[in-house]
Amino acid sequence: MNQLEESMRRGLGGALERVSVRALVQVDSTNLRLKEEARAGRIRPPFLLMADSQTAGRGRLGRRFVSPPETGLYMSLFISPPPETESGKITILSAVAVCRAIEEATGLRPKIKWVNDLFVKGKKVCGILAERIDQGVIVGIGVNLLTPPGGFPPEAGAAGALDKQVDRGLLAGLIARYLLEGLEKIGDPSILDAYRARMPLVGRQVRYVRNGQEKTALVTGVAQDGGLMIEDENGPSVLRTGEVTLGSEQFAQGWRREEAQNE
Ligand code: BTN
Repeated sequence: MNQLEESMRRGLGGALERVSVRALVQVDSTNLRLKEEARAGRIRPPFLLMADSQTAGRGRLGRRFVSPPETGLYMSLFISPPPETESGKITILSAVAVCRAIEEATGLRPKIKWVNDLFVKGKKVCGILAERIDQGVIVGIGVNLLTPPGGFPPEAGAAGALDKQVDRGLLAGLIARYLLEGLEKIGDPSILDAYRARMPLVGRQVRYVRNGQEKTALVTGVAQDGGLMIEDENGPSVLRTGEVTLGSEQFAQGWRREEAQNE
């Protein structure tokens, strides 16, 4: 077992000896790799894969996820949720698990931008890509730990980093631990409460894009299945993940203002 795998195990804690872990130096995408392995029946859940860098890191909506070496955490967890678990619930659980792990490892308090981007000081520090396959779900998580030399490329938009020295293996293990613990009580309202507590959008106006058209609405809450409850001139409705996008820059600006006022 290499050093990274050892610290992943420390983060996972003794109770989770059943999790298989693997750390690689480089991979195209940890999500892709786990999907291939799972489909071929070579691995069983829960399985945690981490890589130092990715040559084809993937984000939501077909975007690229910039994954240079030594500055980020790139991991995927293959899980087997109870049958009939709504995808939204896994999304919410994943965002909460990563927040808790970052809070424990760094003392920072990330905020969640619906649906599952994490922001610190108005910058996106983490993205999550959960993908369903016949064998289960692959939850891919990318955390920017340090700003890469030369900064983030323009395509990374509102990207920023935790800018803390963190043991990557330990953080990966903690994330997997909180995710797997949460999975055992996936219907529990405490998960949604923990999400709502970190998602400061309720009561605020948001702009969103649906079918290529930009609209504005007031956020009224988060639904049980992870949908964003809104109200606009057409009355109340619920936004579903994948169906709409919210602008990161708008959030970043709002939160930067809010954090500056609280300092
Ligand atoms: C997003 O912000 O759109 C989601 C980004 C998810 C990136 C992670 S990095 C580890 C895993 N492997 C991938 O190819 N993507 C996810």
